Amino acid sequence: MVKAKKTIKKECEGLEMLTGEKVRLREYRREDIQLAQAYINDYEVKRLLNPGIPYPYTYEDEMKWFESNSASKDNYSFAIETLEESKYIGGCGVNKIDWKNSVAMVGIFIGDKNYWGKGYGTDAMKVLVSFIFDQLNIHKVKLQVFSFNQRAIRSYEKCGFKTEGTLRKEIFKDGKYHDEVIMGILREDMRG
Ligand SMILES: CC(C)(COP(=O)(O)OP(=O)(O)OC[C@H]1O[C@@H](n2cnc3c(N)ncnc32)[C@H](O)[C@@H]1OP(=O)(O)O)[C@@H](O)C(=O)NCCC(=O)NCCS
Repeated sequence: MVKAKKTIKKECEGLEMLTGEKVRLREYRREDIQLAQAYINDYEVKRLLNPGIPYPYTYEDEMKWFESNSASKDNYSFAIETLEESKYIGGCGVNKIDWKNSVAMVGIFIGDKNYWGKGYGTDAMKVLVSFIFDQLNIHKVKLQVFSFNQRAIRSYEKCGFKTEGTLRKEIFKDGKYHDEVIMGILREDMRG
């Protein structure tokens, strides 16, 4: 556990590679926990995220995630912080890595809604994808997004992701079924 924590810390210390035009990605800190809990408990945010997250989301849930997260070796979690105010506004990271096929699964959320639609999430995702290609030597990055989340889909397209498939009526939410879209970006899509 200590080793994994140190590894992430160390990577975060070489900060240029984790800095974009509007945000930097940094390690999660204990002082983020309260705000993270509030962000995830906001139903407007929660309805856009992976259904596996408990709701209502307690301080203990967040604490448990914080502790276990540092322990996992195939999991990189970053807090997203604005460059102008050093404000913690959300998180992103690698949820799963298939090392054999060199594919990483990612996720992102901006929890402070004042920062939606202003380019912060797109900038964070670009930094994350560059980190994965340049530092982890992965050749493909993948994600899943609900079909009704057009802001996210547009944001991913701006990063260079392409739609690769649709899981029909995969998600039950707000009284009906919705499709889930799979998007991916290859190293050569980004680097040419
Ligand atoms: C998804 C998310 C990371 C995107 O980051 P962002 O900083 O808000 O995105 P941006 O401002 O860079 O881009 C959003 C784009 O979507 C467009 N958009 C916004 N609402 C839209 C809608 N309802 N339909 C279509 N496009 C929309 C914007 O116009 C913008 O495109 P443009 O730059 O071409 O004008 C962020 O909004 C977020 O975290 N949302 C809540 C949680 C979430 O949805 N997470 C993703 C789960 S898969």
